[in-house]
This record gives sequence, structure tokens and C-alpha cells, in this order.
Amino acid sequence: MPWYTDFFTELPNTFWRAAVPSESTKAEIDFLMTLPGDHVLDVACGSGRHALELAARGRRVTGVDVSAEAIAHATGEAARRGLTAAFHVGDMRALPATIADTAICMGNAFGYLDHDETRAFLAGLTARTVVLDYGFAAESFLPGVALEEEPLTIGGVTAEQVNEYDVARSRWITHFTFTRGEEVHRGTSVQHVYTAAEVCRMVTEAGFGTIDLYGDPDGAPYELRSPRLILVARR
Ligand SMILES: C[S@@+](CC[C@H](N)C(=O)[O-])C[C@H]1O[C@@H](n2cnc3c(N)ncnc32)[C@H](O)[C@@H]1O
Repeated sequence: MPWYTDFFTELPNTFWRAAVPSESTKAEIDFLMTLPGDHVLDVACGSGRHALELAARGRRVTGVDVSAEAIAHATGEAARRGLTAAFHVGDMRALPATIADTAICMGNAFGYLDHDETRAFLAGLTARTVVLDYGFAAESFLPGVALEEEPLTIGGVTAEQVNEYDVARSRWITHFTFTRGEEVHRGTSVQHVYTAAEVCRMVTEAGFGTIDLYGDPDGAPYELRSPRLILVARR
């Protein structure tokens, strides 16, 4: 079974829910709201960080994620806030047929799948506009990479990470141990590192004609050492 099918349980999800500052999400939503179209498909929506805010700002939203815990959280938050948004447990390798104007894949889920699956994922998107938010683009990630990382405690959960870089396959592999009191969850994530050009080639092959690359949701152009790659592709 691929690592991501049982990695995103309550402890890691709690850690990441608390880890992302609300200002970052707000900046990303401001950026996404500049894109045309009413219906947004949020692929690997996690706990609904973007989907819920987009719904709050009037977009019609469908969120899909493989983590049942994350989808339960997003569904509960939508109900608590009185928002209309559809959330489904599902796999980006076999997306439900959804007619969306825009598909977004935020927060690094791009790069989890094997190469053929990534190509099939992109080819299967029917939306006119696609946004990929990808922190592991080679031009962003490799210049400052350090294998050693200090343990971090966020939201009451401590994450310890032991990292490896698989040079031959350009994969960043992290062995995580999440702890909260007596609770422990271990899992190993595998992230493919692609150059921006490789991502553009895949997106072009998937049928998109125009591609814009940004280094930040404020619209800064993508360049060497930009914090992440935000790619907007249009048909
Ligand atoms: C780092 S989180 C990002 C969540 C959200 N997009 C955000 O930015 O907050 C990555 C998410 O990808 C989901 N995921 C991983 N592999 C997936 C797959 N094959 N299909 C659907 N979701 C997947 C995980 O369950 C997790 O919620």
C-alpha cells in the first residue's frame, strides 16, 4: 500500500492543522479568488483549509482527500460554520467525475504519487484551470536542504523527523514519529522532487496550453530559491 493511504491519521493531521499560520492560508485564498470560475475541486483538500474559506467566500467547492480523519474534520467544520461544501473520502489516483472550473492541489500533495500516476492524475483533470502548490520543486527545495531537523511541537503534537535524499530517484524521504503523551504514530513520507521544467512538461502533456509560475501567492514570479512553486495552468 502506498505510504499516503495510512499516514494522515489524527496525530499528523492535528500537527499540520496547527502548523500553517492563518495568514498563509488567507494569502493563498486571496490568490485563488483571483482565478475565474465558480466551482473549485480541491484535490487532497486535507482538513479543508482552502475549501472551507473558498466556500465562505461564495465558491462552490468539492473537496477530496484520502484521509477519512481529515474529511471528517472538514465536514464537521463546514457544519459548525454553516458552510455549504461537499467533502468526499477519495484518492487522487481515481478522482470522482466532477465538473469543476478550477482544480487545486495545495500544500505539497503534488509529488506524492509515482511518475505514471502523477501524469494520469494531471491528464484526468477536466477543469479549465489547475493550480499546483508544490514546495518540493528542485529550484526551491534543494538549495537550502538540510538532512537534520530539530523536533517540533505544534498543536500539542511533537514531530521528529529523520530525513534521507534518494539521489538516484530524486526523492525526499522522511521517517516521522509523531507523539502526544503516550500516543505514537510512525510513518514514512516520500516526496518526488521535480524541477519546474519537469512539472511544466507534465502539465503541458496533460493538455494545458498556458502555464504561469509564481513563487508566492502575492504573485511574485518563480525564481531560483523561491519558497515554493505555485503553478497555474490554463487550457
Ligand atoms: C500536507 S496535506 C495538505 C492538505 C491541504 N491541501 C492543505 O494544503 O492544507 C496532504 C494531504 O494529501 C492527502 N493525500 C495524500 N495522498 C492522497 C491521494 N492519493 N489522494 C487524495 N488525497 C491524498 C493527505 O491525506 C493529506 O490530507
